[in-house]
Amino acid sequence: MLQILENYSLKNFNTFGIEASARYFVEINKEEELTELFMDPQWLQTSRLILGGGSNLLLVKDFDGLAIRINIRGIEHRINHNEVFIEAGAGEVWNDLVNFCVARDYAGIENLSLIPGSVGASPIQNIGADGVELQDVFRSCRAFEIATREFKTFTKEDCRFGYRDSIFKNELKEQIIIVSVKFKLSLIPNINLKYGAIEQELANRNISKPTIKDVSKVVSHIRVSKLPDPSTIGNAGSFFKNPVIAEEQFQRLQSKFPEVVHYPAGDSMVKLAAGWLIEQCGWKGKVVGHTGTWKNQALVLVNHGGATGEEVYSLSSQIIDSVYTKFGVLLEREVNIID
Ligand code: FAD
Ligand code: EPU
Repeated sequence: MLQILENYSLKNFNTFGIEASARYFVEINKEEELTELFMDPQWLQTSRLILGGGSNLLLVKDFDGLAIRINIRGIEHRINHNEVFIEAGAGEVWNDLVNFCVARDYAGIENLSLIPGSVGASPIQNIGADGVELQDVFRSCRAFEIATREFKTFTKEDCRFGYRDSIFKNELKEQIIIVSVKFKLSLIPNINLKYGAIEQELANRNISKPTIKDVSKVVSHIRVSKLPDPSTIGNAGSFFKNPVIAEEQFQRLQSKFPEVVHYPAGDSMVKLAAGWLIEQCGWKGKVVGHTGTWKNQALVLVNHGGATGEEVYSLSSQIIDSVYTKFGVLLEREVNIID
């Protein structure tokens, strides 16, 4: 029998560490429990918040609906020639899956080491880091469609992955609940050193022929040096996406700001480093009340202790305004705003 809790604190379920509660809260440990839950029609009419590790959301206020925490576990793996087929429950911790694979020399997700959160949330924003995105290894996911109470399979094409984007952040937002994800990895490593800092750190360690274990260690080291650890400083990683603008707009911007940090983004588009834009506006390391931006990474907003969701949201609005005023570039929040 499912236990629905009332007025439940979500402080331990969001890495910002914001004190906010859910009107109702339920934990799902098996996929059949979703069918059981939605047999009760009241939940079809109630607003819902699907929760993994809470590492990519900001609770602006108490959530007046049903928070559904997904805790479905299990990792299955099968090898066929040099290909490795993995299926993991949505409630598995993403980095546990990475460690599981790296320990067995299953290559493909080592660059995604130490990203917080759950396997089930990994397709939502097509997690990415250090030159690799989830879509590079994703095969399909199984999800419960709330309206029909049926389980459906979404292939890679169905998911419409983009940079920090998928169909689940758009048309299907809060409509489906991912219960498991399938990946295809390889026994033949394809070491990806596109992200320059990895190559530099490998050189510092005199490693000329890196294994995927080396890559995983180096990626983890770089991340720890740059990003705040949510267990001590509340945060949700990059608060904004890196903006992608048209080549023409970029040329105008670069003529005024020759140092602007940028990368080619295909189709005559250019991606800008939001962290640079924010730092240039004087925000880096700035403390504003209980909140602020991280001293080593201006793109990360932090809770220095006791911040409310409204405070963090208001800081993010101030940052958007000042970046727009100085550069004419509109930042888009990456973190899911729950209000
Ligand atoms: P949650 O925060 O719980 O949820 C995020 C969204 O997904 C919500 O909209 C939620 O409703 C939805 N959701 C969650 N689970 C499910 C499910 N099973 N079915 C349907 N919807 C669901 N992200 C990157 O891409 N790259 C990084 O390098 C990176 N670095 C980070 C570093 C730090 C220190 C932190 C705190 C975060 C970082 N993030 C990064 C963001 C975060 O780790 C990812 O977005 C992660 O996938 C969120 O997982 P979660 O389980 O915590 O999701
Ligand atoms: N920069 C600054 N000042 C700053 C921060 C960055 O000038 O305060 C400039 C530097 O020139 C730096 C460049 O921006 O070289 C890029 O910074 P970084 O390598 O830290 O990466 P990012 O673009 O800020 C993105 C992702 C991260 C991911 C890293 C590594 C987004 C929104 N963020 O950050 O993902 O870990 O690359 O691949 O794309 C997340 O999504 O939560 C996240 C942490």
